[in-house]
Amino acid sequence: MSPRDERRSRRDHAADTRLKLVENVVDLRVAVDAARASGRTVALVPTMGALHDGHARLIEEARAADPDALLVVTIFVNPTQFGPNEDFGRYPRTIDHDLIVCGRANADLVFVPDVETVYPGGIDQPACVVEPPASLATVLEGAIRPGHFRGVATVVLKLINLAHPQVAYFGRKDYQQLVVIKRMVRDFHLNVLIRETATVREPDGLALSSRNRYLSDDQRSAAVVLWHALQAATAAVASGERDADRVRQILRAAIDSTPAAKLDYAEVADASTLEPIDRLLVERPAVALIAARLGATRLIDNVALDLPS
Ligand code: PAJ
Repeated sequence: MSPRDERRSRRDHAADTRLKLVENVVDLRVAVDAARASGRTVALVPTMGALHDGHARLIEEARAADPDALLVVTIFVNPTQFGPNEDFGRYPRTIDHDLIVCGRANADLVFVPDVETVYPGGIDQPACVVEPPASLATVLEGAIRPGHFRGVATVVLKLINLAHPQVAYFGRKDYQQLVVIKRMVRDFHLNVLIRETATVREPDGLALSSRNRYLSDDQRSAAVVLWHALQAATAAVASGERDADRVRQILRAAIDSTPAAKLDYAEVADASTLEPIDRLLVERPAVALIAARLGATRLIDNVALDLPS
């Protein structure tokens, strides 16, 4: 489909629902300013499209939290958060389906900018960026994906500045991303409330992800090991384990028991600073984070390690 036909097809879809499809900054600002002027809250759900039930839940929760809000979903595959050998080019783009998901979940407006709109000087020109602290951005995912969280924080700041929301929704599925964004909001005094939502899973426990579609049938069956590993860690903590190294070993052993899965990291970290911890303590909320490869596909998952108080 030519870009022109593609745009026409998107508009036709949007016309079937109450959804407003917006592709440029001026139209977005007009809609957002009008909503705020009439006293409505603006709620933002940033996504990269290829929407699944996890995204749908985020949008539905945003709608349920405020039936009168102007609910803005952004769909933008952000080039600056992909490394040179990552899947930017082949990241799934399913805009027609995405508009249907947004309509069903009762979004009001979908902002689908192109790269030049979000990066006015292009992505190869010198430009201002958000540099999250190394302690958050060069560990875990950041150690394997250098520059990833710079790209994420930069685009999220742009989207917040463009849509000017009072509240923005992010999933705990991407826990490190959530921590980086919360820190940016705090450090830059951004006047937006960050709401976090629970991870939506397949019936067997695999966290929904746009990348799950890359898995072969065998890899898909094996992928549930991430969830099993996290459950084993949770069970150990529930039965009294407080030594974080033991919990890391449990995570690693579970992944190692599945030959198709190759562990990238298994960490037990402070829930707000992401620092590795030695012992689980009631007064220091912790999270178990895991990443593994199934063939060429990297999957991540995490759970809060709640202690009985
Ligand atoms: P994307 O991967 O499309 O995810 C958009 C939002 O959906 C994120 O907040 C993510 O945490 C949430 N999400 C993804 N899978 C989920 C699941 N299984 N359950 C619940 N929520 C889930 O994350 C990004 O896009 C980008 O980095 C972005 C923030 C849009 C910046 O480009």
